[in-house]
Amino acid sequence: MDIWHIRGGRRLEGACPVQGSKNASLPILAAAILAPLRCELHNVPRLRDVDAALRILRCLGCLAEQRENDVYIDSTTLSGCSIPHSLMEEMRSSVIFMGALLARCGEARLSLPGGCQLGKRPIDLHLAALRQLGAEIEEDGTDICCRAARLKGAEIALPFPSVGATENAMLAACAAKGTTTIRGAAKEPEIQALQAFLSRAGAGIGGAGSDTIRIEGFDSAARCVCRIIPDRIVASTLACAAAATGGDVSLCGIDPRHFSALLYFLNKAGCDIISSNRSVRIRSRGRLRAAGEIVTEPYPGFPTDAQPVLMAAMLQAEGETRIRETIFENRFRQVPELRRLGADIAVCGQTAEIRGVDRLHGAALTATDLRGGAAMIVAGLAACGDTVICDDGHVSRGYESFDRCLCALGADICFDHGI
Ligand code: UD1
Repeated sequence: MDIWHIRGGRRLEGACPVQGSKNASLPILAAAILAPLRCELHNVPRLRDVDAALRILRCLGCLAEQRENDVYIDSTTLSGCSIPHSLMEEMRSSVIFMGALLARCGEARLSLPGGCQLGKRPIDLHLAALRQLGAEIEEDGTDICCRAARLKGAEIALPFPSVGATENAMLAACAAKGTTTIRGAAKEPEIQALQAFLSRAGAGIGGAGSDTIRIEGFDSAARCVCRIIPDRIVASTLACAAAATGGDVSLCGIDPRHFSALLYFLNKAGCDIISSNRSVRIRSRGRLRAAGEIVTEPYPGFPTDAQPVLMAAMLQAEGETRIRETIFENRFRQVPELRRLGADIAVCGQTAEIRGVDRLHGAALTATDLRGGAAMIVAGLAACGDTVICDDGHVSRGYESFDRCLCALGADICFDHGI
């Protein structure tokens, strides 16, 4: 069990770099097996989920190692196409290996993925897209077996811009004969990052960032070097921590457009947002105002992953904030824990109403999931007194050295790993 000790009430101040993106790294790690490739990835965060992806790569026969924030992969030695359940269940993104294995081996044997319990997380759109590319898929509710003697380019129309289904379709389409068009594709920056990697690895691909992506074959490069983009959800968390503590924090190296939906609401709440090309300064001017009505949506809308941390920032804002969660059905799991700090939150179906209180007080909490745990840290930093968060490894799945990063900004926080 990891334990976070926070002495709240300190204003965050200063400048800090933002770690590399988890959600960009994981699909790129899967993409490294598309063809016999030697890859060098820079700015990869040191996280439990990244470690899980490296173990999957090694289990498939690849050489894969991380040194600080650099990852080296040699997929020329790939020798298998099965991933055991014990590895699949460690994270949601393990499912992206399905498209990559199918492309490389014509076969993938795996099981349903793990990840945060945010409600139903079906993979029907992933499977439908792979079937359209010519895969035959058997699944029994636990195990999945996909085969394709030869994948064929296809017109894929996604009824919802699923990030994971878009990534799986992009990877499998690289090995397909002929052109694939993915309509209704997800537009997240991580999709654009995957396209940039695939393009360097030899794919004829374009359109990521719009709702139509075209893949026109793959002529494998032998070697591929890539730098992972900064993490917009970690940036959002730090921005919310700055706002919640009345702070003044500059986030360096991040493209403000990648989290402009969050910055819009912090500005509405009374923070100054000073953006340049590659950095953002969040300066709070005293007590926040309620941010109004927030609805989570696919990118470029307000991200579901930033919802819990913005909720935490609004707990002491003057007035009422309403958050409607439209992506996941069980994404208010942090609420009962935040109430222990004195928060006034009412949940009705998929809507949470937060009435700002004058004061939060420290308490003992239990992290429920990755972003919910991060929300508890933000709230603990803003509360008076001591907060202790018991965390079954959730936060370290997505945040690298988060305690050190916050301490450098003046927080009083200490992290005990694996007690
Ligand atoms: C989601 C987020 C992504 C975030 C990631 C990690 C969205 C749209 N996606 O991606 O930004 O980085 O979590 O927390 O906000 N769905 C189906 N069938 C499928 C796949 C998905 O019905 O085959 C539904 C899900 O139940 C959910 C929605 O689509 O309601 C979002 O799915 P998707 O984008 O695929 O989720 P992730 O890839 O996990």
